[in-house]
Amino acid sequence: MVKIAPSLLSADFAKLGEETAVVKAAGAEYLHYDVMDGMFVPNISFGIPVLKSLRQSTDMFIDAHLMIEKPVRYVEEFCKAGADLVSFHLESDSQEGIEAAIAAVKKHGKKVGIAVKPASSAESILPYIKDIDMVVVMTVEPGFGGQSFMEWQLPKIRKIREYIDTMAPNVELEVDGGIDHRTAAFVIQAGANVLVAGSAVFGKLDRAAAIENIRNSKIVKE
Ligand code: DX5
Ligand code: ZN
Repeated sequence: MVKIAPSLLSADFAKLGEETAVVKAAGAEYLHYDVMDGMFVPNISFGIPVLKSLRQSTDMFIDAHLMIEKPVRYVEEFCKAGADLVSFHLESDSQEGIEAAIAAVKKHGKKVGIAVKPASSAESILPYIKDIDMVVVMTVEPGFGGQSFMEWQLPKIRKIREYIDTMAPNVELEVDGGIDHRTAAFVIQAGANVLVAGSAVFGKLDRAAAIENIRNSKIVKE
């Protein structure tokens, strides 16, 4: 069964604890926490102190997605603040920097993910695939919630699913951006097993129904 990871980026920031409790009660498996530095992406969201507070208010699995330059500078802080998994972008540093960030997360006993922007190839994850717990394929340009799903990422998702199955079968394949009750079916078919959804969950009054509709998404032939 696929896992659903609601993205707090589309939640009411004045009610993060309540919003989290609602998606947990609705059956969401992961809580997706988007961190933006205004450099790697043209937007700023929330960071370490907010994560620390959130950690006090929930036992959900927190999947922190860092969209920041040179993540090795901060990954340990995110581990200490309570992230269960820390992912960062392979475009955000040199290969040495990315390898150092992977090692730093593992040193804290946390899970680690590598995220790829739409322009990066499936092959670009190969140097890291055996050292990580998750690949995050962006299906929008990172920086904002509520954008349209990029269908042209589907072949890349399929290719990465093949790499995972042959080289590192325990690695999770998360898809992030523009996922809703229609697009979910396509990424599930392509091999994704964790679906991030921001506006398609927090933009709806009934979060539980929104989560179930994404989970049970089917391709409708016209
Ligand atoms: C975008 C973030 C996403 C975002 C997804 O940069 O990484 O996690 O919250 O939002 P939706 O689901 O609305 O596209
Ligand atoms: Zn994200």
